[in-house]
Amino acid sequence: MTNRTLYIVVCGAPLASRAADGVKAARANGWDPYVIPTEAALPWLADQDLGDAPVITGNRTPDQPRRTPSPDAVAVVPATFNTLNAWANGNAHTYPLTILCAALGSRTPTVAVPFAKSDLTGHPAWLASLAVLRYAGVGISDPHDGSSTSLAPVEPGTGEQVAETFRWEPILSQLEARLDS
Ligand SMILES: Cc1cc2nc3c(=O)[nH]c(=O)nc-3n(C[C@H](O)[C@H](O)[C@H](O)COP(=O)(O)O)c2cc1C
Repeated sequence: MTNRTLYIVVCGAPLASRAADGVKAARANGWDPYVIPTEAALPWLADQDLGDAPVITGNRTPDQPRRTPSPDAVAVVPATFNTLNAWANGNAHTYPLTILCAALGSRTPTVAVPFAKSDLTGHPAWLASLAVLRYAGVGISDPHDGSSTSLAPVEPGTGEQVAETFRWEPILSQLEARLDS
């Protein structure tokens, strides 16, 4: 059986430090991962060994061929306040956002792990964006325990600790379930 293509979109928050583990877990579960970082995520990726997973940054030029096969599924880990709101609002002014908007529009199976503190999650746009994404079929997974039914803000000063204990398996399982349904 050929591997399926997984886009891992990585935004600028402490959980970006686990991208390499996501690549490894994806490979172990029969996916071909492509890492698509936002510009703000790049400092977290600098010291990570992403193996042979392609890292795709910025838009291609009009004369460049496509750089990736179409995705079978998309994981957004972590999803920042900024990207999650822009995505839900249909804003496609960066390459990762274009990928996310296209995934939503084509109903490609997608799971996002929102990662933000309560000062940001208290902004009214946050709840509206989560509702839009859920309505469109995006799985929302809590970074603390992988729950797909509840979502807690990241407590101040705990970002690195939440990142350390984060598990990729529930994300991959949720994507598998969405592919099978
Ligand atoms: C050390 C550090 C930690 C951050 N943690 C978070 C976070 O947990 N959640 C969040 O939404 N933004 C966080 N930010 C802010 C985002 O990186 C910033 O809003 C950025 O513009 C997001 O861009 P992106 O959505 O394109 O990745 C953090 C920034 C820094 C420098």
